[in-house]
Amino acid sequence: MTLYSKIIGTGSYLPAKRVTNQQLADQLAEQGIETSDEWIVSRSGISARHFAEPEQKSSDLAVIAAQRALEMAQLQPNDIDLIILASSTPDFFGSFPSTACIVQKKLGMTNHGAAVDVQAVCSGFVYAVSTADAFIRAGVHKNVLVIGAEVFSRILDFKDRTTCVLFGDGAGAIVLTASEQPGVLATKLHADGRHSDILSVPGAPDGGALAGSAFLHMDGPAVFKLAVSVLEKVAHEALEQANMSSEQIDWLVPHQANIRIMSSTAKKLGLPAEKMVVTVDQHGNTSAASIPLALDVAVRDGRIKKDQTVMMEGVGGGFTWGAVLVKMNGLPEQGDFKAAL
Ligand SMILES: CC(C)(COP(=O)(O)OP(=O)(O)OC[C@H]1O[C@@H](n2cnc3c(N)ncnc32)[C@H](O)[C@@H]1OP(=O)(O)O)[C@@H](O)C(=O)NCCC(=O)NCCS
Repeated sequence: MTLYSKIIGTGSYLPAKRVTNQQLADQLAEQGIETSDEWIVSRSGISARHFAEPEQKSSDLAVIAAQRALEMAQLQPNDIDLIILASSTPDFFGSFPSTACIVQKKLGMTNHGAAVDVQAVCSGFVYAVSTADAFIRAGVHKNVLVIGAEVFSRILDFKDRTTCVLFGDGAGAIVLTASEQPGVLATKLHADGRHSDILSVPGAPDGGALAGSAFLHMDGPAVFKLAVSVLEKVAHEALEQANMSSEQIDWLVPHQANIRIMSSTAKKLGLPAEKMVVTVDQHGNTSAASIPLALDVAVRDGRIKKDQTVMMEGVGGGFTWGAVLVKMNGLPEQGDFKAAL
């Protein structure tokens, strides 16, 4: 029997503290840094972002998103035999123990399933889904919890107006399960390490201290240019793999970083704006969390319906990018989900 994977649950979580552009602009003005709601909206499409409380870590956000996805999937934590968590802001400096292991503990799991973090920055979620799909198709794991979770506010330099206005905190999750029918139709991943310096946190642990910077550094225009060029290409590669055309996409769920990058991708794919899920206005760029956040919002508000076809696309530091094409044939019947936002 040929094995495939399908999505049977989605969940997401945004921390309670919501900061509008105006509120952020007012805070930055106190430090003599000038920005405005008008600049942020026109350059990025972002209106607000959520920031975690100091005691909230990525694992705390991840656990709530995971619980919501498990509830939709009607599974218990111990039914999960693999957790793959994508994050660039893991619970621990030095990255271990993995945030996936912390999430396993916080979910109360005792079944000795596997748990691992993946690092592909804003492409982390599509990397994690592709990895989970491969494990399931190989018959190695059956029920996989895939999470993207970030507290990006911890790596933002609030003296750098070119970056601090663009990012936020949040988490999203899906449950993938083994299936005789293909849910995940195609996955395609890429990286080009030659561009590693255009988006990075260029610091490292060194003898008990930090060598370099613990803040996010970005060459915005260079990232913009690369992102626009690779996203169209990788979407076509995934479509080709599934022997499908872009007209067969019901929903485009791109990485929620910047409305101008997203709209340009939709246009190049010949998709009308109404077919693209946009939540970036509400939470800014939440890196690995942004795609599952947007997916969950559109599933719960009834836009994405059972059996529809969804193209998810990520792009980010590394430089990394990828696409996952999915038929949402594992979703429960519509109508009884709690709203995401
Ligand atoms: C970052 C980004 C929004 C900047 O937009 P841009 O149109 O390229 O703007 P520029 O960098 O050319 O800067 C234009 C001006 O705005 C100013 N500016 C930058 N940030 C500002 C802010 N928050 N508020 C007001 N002005 C700002 C700059 O200083 C510059 O002023 P100058 O012309 O006097 O030097 C844009 O490059 C972008 O979206 N890049 C991709 C970012 C992204 O999505 N990253 C994550 C991918 S995973």
